[in-house]
Amino acid sequence: MSNPTAAELIHLFKGIPFTIRSSPELLKSLDTFDAREDDVLLVSYPKSGTHWLAGVITKLYNTQVTLTSPIEFGDISKLEEMNNLSSKRIIPTHLDYNMLPSNFKNKKCKMIYIIRNPKDTAVSMYHYYRDNPNLPTVDTWTAFFDLFLKGDVVCGSWFDHFLSWEEHANDKNILFLFYEDMKKDLSKTVKEISLFLGLNVSDNDIQDICKKSSFSEMKSDTEKENSDPTHTVCALTSNRKLIFRKGAVGDWKNHFTPKQNRRFEEIFNEKMKLSEM
Ligand code: A3P
Repeated sequence: MSNPTAAELIHLFKGIPFTIRSSPELLKSLDTFDAREDDVLLVSYPKSGTHWLAGVITKLYNTQVTLTSPIEFGDISKLEEMNNLSSKRIIPTHLDYNMLPSNFKNKKCKMIYIIRNPKDTAVSMYHYYRDNPNLPTVDTWTAFFDLFLKGDVVCGSWFDHFLSWEEHANDKNILFLFYEDMKKDLSKTVKEISLFLGLNVSDNDIQDICKKSSFSEMKSDTEKENSDPTHTVCALTSNRKLIFRKGAVGDWKNHFTPKQNRRFEEIFNEKMKLSEM
C-alpha cells in the first residue's frame, strides 16, 4: 500500500497546516473551551522540548495533577472530556497565541512557552517528518529546509508562532524558557518554573527531578513503557519512542550547508528584526 499523501494527512485551518489528528470541528470550537483559573498551559512550537518540559512540570507537583493531551488534539468530544477532569490540568498546546482559546487569556492562566534555536528545531522536525507516519513524506533535508523556511510545515511558520507569543513577553502570567538554558543548567530552570508556579520544592527534590529528567533517563523510561494511543502531549504522535532522538544543542551544524546557513540567517534577521529576544 502506498504512503498517504500530504492532502490525506494535512488540512489547513486559518491558513495553518494541522494534521487530521486535530479535527476541523474541534479547531472551530476552541473558543468555547472552558478554561479554569488554575490551568497551566505548556506551549511550544513542535520539537522545542515539549516532552522534556512536561516531564519536569508533572514531577514538580506533589498533589494530583492531570497532564492532558493537547487542546487541539482529537475531535469535538475533546471539550467534554476536558471538562470532566476533576483534578488540576496541565495542558500542552502547539497553538499560536491568536488561536489560543480566549478563556485562557481572560482568566490569566499561567502559561509556559518553551523556545529552541529554530535551526535545531528544523533539524529535529525533519527527522520527525521522516519517522512519524502521521506526517507527509519528505525525501531530503534540502526539500524540508525549504518547507520549514516557507512555514509550509505542520503548525505553520516558526517565526509567526514565536512572534505571536513574544508580543506577550511582558504578561505576568507567561514564562518564557529556552531549551538551551535547560541543557546548560536544568536545576536553575526547574527552580524558575517552581517559583513561577508558586510551588515550594526543596533543593533535594529539584536535584532528583533533574536526574529523572535527563535525556537518557527519559529515553530509557519511554522504551520500557507501552505507548497509550489515547494519550500524548504532542498533537502529532502518541508514540513517545519517536521523541527522544538526540537531545543535543547544535545538531543543525551536521545538516546545514554554509549556503543554507546564510539563507536561514538572512530570513531570521529579517523576520526577527523587531524581536527583543
Ligand atoms: P532532537 O530531535 O533534536 O533529539 P518535543 O518534545 O517538543 O517534540 O521536542 C523533541 C526534542 O526534544 C527532541 O530533539 C528530543 O530529543 C528533545 N528532548 C526530549 N527530552 C529531552 C531531554 N530530557 N533532554 C534534552 N532533550 C530532550
